[in-house]
Amino acid sequence: MPGAWPPSTPEPLASVSVEPLLTRDYDADPALVHDRLRAKYGPVAPVDLLGVPVWLVLGYAEVLRVMKNEGDIWSKRLDNWRARAEGALPPDWPVLPAFELNSVAFQDGMTLHRLRDTWTSALAPFQDRGHPQAQLLEDAIRRYADDLISLLAEGESRTGWADLSAQYARPLPLMVANRLFGFETARGDDVVMDTWRVLDAGPEAAAASQRLFAAMMELSSAKMSRPGNDLPSYMLAANSDFTVEGLSRELLMLPGVVGDMTGGLICNTILEVMTNPEVRSGLSAGTIEETVNRVALANPPMANLTFRFPTADVRLGRFAISAGDPVMLSVAGAHSDPLFGSAIDREAIRSTRAHLAWGAGPHACLARLLATRITTIAVERLFDRLDRLRLALPADQLPWRSSPFMRALRSLPVDYELAQAPANTEPPVAADAVTVEAEPPRSALWRFLRGLRGSRKWSPLG
Ligand code: HEM
Repeated sequence: MPGAWPPSTPEPLASVSVEPLLTRDYDADPALVHDRLRAKYGPVAPVDLLGVPVWLVLGYAEVLRVMKNEGDIWSKRLDNWRARAEGALPPDWPVLPAFELNSVAFQDGMTLHRLRDTWTSALAPFQDRGHPQAQLLEDAIRRYADDLISLLAEGESRTGWADLSAQYARPLPLMVANRLFGFETARGDDVVMDTWRVLDAGPEAAAASQRLFAAMMELSSAKMSRPGNDLPSYMLAANSDFTVEGLSRELLMLPGVVGDMTGGLICNTILEVMTNPEVRSGLSAGTIEETVNRVALANPPMANLTFRFPTADVRLGRFAISAGDPVMLSVAGAHSDPLFGSAIDREAIRSTRAHLAWGAGPHACLARLLATRITTIAVERLFDRLDRLRLALPADQLPWRSSPFMRALRSLPVDYELAQAPANTEPPVAADAVTVEAEPPRSALWRFLRGLRGSRKWSPLG
């Protein structure tokens, strides 16, 4: 009840007492933690994010208000972050590398508009189904899916155990990212593997991150001198201002958004199909798309967003937020806000498109269609090719990753049985419709995935 809330608390964030957000409870059931924070603080709560205090926004109305940025007060530019400007952030803060990328996601105003226009034009050939490039990409996604499924049981009986996160949902969209990059050599496989290391934030992450940036610089400069039918070349065609470094920064976003977020969405959707008999019994492309939407609502893969910084003091929830304080929008929190839930019939919400899983306002996701298509094909192929698929653990014991931003499974262990013969894929588009470079042979990734077969490993790089 907003009217009953106490007056604004004017102290600076650094002096407000905060509790850690990323706890065991949070990994197991973030909604419970959100409810607790909401009961204690209202729609905005001060929390500790791995040693740094931030404002977590949990109210649907407040999250939407900040996303829409009416009044132009909510900046994403890192130079508006007071603690960073004052050198008050721990230098080894593990969240920092995600921000230092400084790509489109961290821009405002004209720079933001220019970069979003560039992304929009470069993604269009892959996203617009009328374009031959989009048809070729769909065929490639089906092929990748079939290859990964065949690899699960290569040389063995048709039944077995697999971790569908490590062996399917994560590599598949990374292979898609790799194709979008248009690598001309098997170098792309190394990029997939290094992305994996960075996203898992393990001991090899720092070295892998440097290699990734070097690979993007190399790719950007190659595409500047020899453009192809790929995303970097389309970005260059849409924006003549790019330097090699500027393009590399944008490209570095791709493995994370395509690979990690779409991988999370695939995993969460597979889980929903497996555990919801109604969805499973009537499976078709249309019902899968609807399931993807419901999963994005119930379990948004990008649970919390990279920070916004108010450019002037502003009241939000029960607090007066100082200019330059970091504000983290919680999409998952907004979706579980009882004020959002009670405003509309619960059943209707299940299929509403008015959720915030793809963001909203000036930074909203530019690839919702593409990500939904990758996910739909991935889920469709899996359930076409497998006769039997059963969770190898009770659903409430599945391990979730601990991450400030993502809500995704660490592993999805299943027992499966392959169908007798691969079901037919749709005929490929005429090869002469558009020229694409031949795909390089797979090496490192395939060796790695072969090593995972039947091994019951819990961590992909464990
Ligand atoms: C093909 C895969 C994807 C691509 C190429 C992609 C691309 C992008 C880009 C370029 C932005 C930055 C826009 C900006 O800051 O102005 C963005 C934002 C966003 N994306 Fe995606 N995305 C993909 C998949 C996903 C998935 C699977 C989800 C989750 C369901 C997602 C959720 C979001 C959200 C919530 C934002 C807004 C972030 C914010 O407001 O701070 N994206 N995406």
